[in-house]
Amino acid sequence: MSKQEELKALHQKWFKECKCRLKESATQPVPGDGPANAKVVFIGEAPGKAEDLEGKPFVGAAGKFLNEMLESIKFKREDVYITNVVKYRPPNNRDPLPEEKEACSKWLEEEIKIINPKLIVFLGRHSLQNFFPNEKISEVHGKILKKKTKIGDTFFALYHPAAALYNGSMREVLIEDFKKIPKVLAKISSFVQ
Ligand code: URA
Repeated sequence: MSKQEELKALHQKWFKECKCRLKESATQPVPGDGPANAKVVFIGEAPGKAEDLEGKPFVGAAGKFLNEMLESIKFKREDVYITNVVKYRPPNNRDPLPEEKEACSKWLEEEIKIINPKLIVFLGRHSLQNFFPNEKISEVHGKILKKKTKIGDTFFALYHPAAALYNGSMREVLIEDFKKIPKVLAKISSFVQ
């Protein structure tokens, strides 16, 4: 089985097995999307309305902004893998609850294990604090974070595109932080072979 087939089978398995209670209110699950050999994985928070309807992550306004930032660093969306901590839309886009994050956590771990990316980028505080509970996004955005975790050991934290979309100063910071990604990748590649 290829890695892409493995990933597909993993999502099929979790569609059945995930015990997240958001299943009851969501239209459908929103699994991660992108190539199984991606070097970079982006982890967002949870699907919003557009994602819930389409079954794909980051396809609404925040997704369009993310696509623009990817283009600005000459990355193609098709070359990166994009997923969320929680795979079902919380009602009215409320914050996901700890038990909802917990219910989806194995799914996230297993998808990232298959991909084994060089770099994992957290989009926003929920994603960051899922793995670095004591860090604040306002303090670590734009920085490399190193720690051995179940999903990898090298991370980069960014403000969430939806939070920055209509906040002028946060938007500027996010755009500037995003531009560091190619350098971060080059730096990692020079000491990880
Ligand atoms: N915000 C997220 O965190 N994830 C999505 O998929 C869309 C918006």
